[in-house]
Amino acid sequence: MIFTVAIDGPAAAGKGTISKAVAAHFGFAHLDTGLLYRAVGAKVLGGADPVVAARSLDPSDLENASLRTPAVAQAASEVAVIPEVRAALVDFQKAFARRTGGAVLDGRDIGTVICPEAEVKLFVTASPACRAERRFAELRAGGMDVVYETVLEDVKARDARDSGRVAAPLKPAEDAVLLDTSDLTVAAAVARAIAVVAAHPAARDSV
Ligand code: C5P
Repeated sequence: MIFTVAIDGPAAAGKGTISKAVAAHFGFAHLDTGLLYRAVGAKVLGGADPVVAARSLDPSDLENASLRTPAVAQAASEVAVIPEVRAALVDFQKAFARRTGGAVLDGRDIGTVICPEAEVKLFVTASPACRAERRFAELRAGGMDVVYETVLEDVKARDARDSGRVAAPLKPAEDAVLLDTSDLTVAAAVARAIAVVAAHPAARDSV
């Protein structure tokens, strides 16, 4: 079966956790498309040209532990404004979205650009303060020495760049279901997302 769940939203809204849980529940493959931009950003921090880096991306580039650092996140959002970088990553994402067996993709432009025909579209969001708190706790838990105020500034800077860019800006697709996770536990947010997907007739057969 071909079945795509597009999950978009701003940084640290809970897209990753929700996407993984939805994919596991329905037995779909999952692609964190932010990793593609992070991998390009990491190469640029290492001195590479962004377009060359995007065109020569290899699956092994996605397994780099440093991709989760704040510096790479900012570099990712800087390369993500370049139309040629985005264009180089489109085909892989489109093919993944329509692969047999079902797919969940999370990012910023999945429901609007990569897979407007997705069977289910979710736009996951939360207040900037809430997202910064979560990201702060996550980075601290990972042993990173970060300050909350800096994390909040980073989140806001990325929001502004991701929403304000001309190429594939961050915005909900017109037919996306909005899911604000500010006041939800992880379990409650996951349960809501699963319920939205399960409401699609074709999804029921896959569980
Ligand atoms: O989702 P994540 O925080 O890993 O994404 C890192 C950056 O990559 C985002 O801030 C955004 O600029 C970019 N991105 C994008 N389109 C996507 C996924 C990520 O522009 N589909």
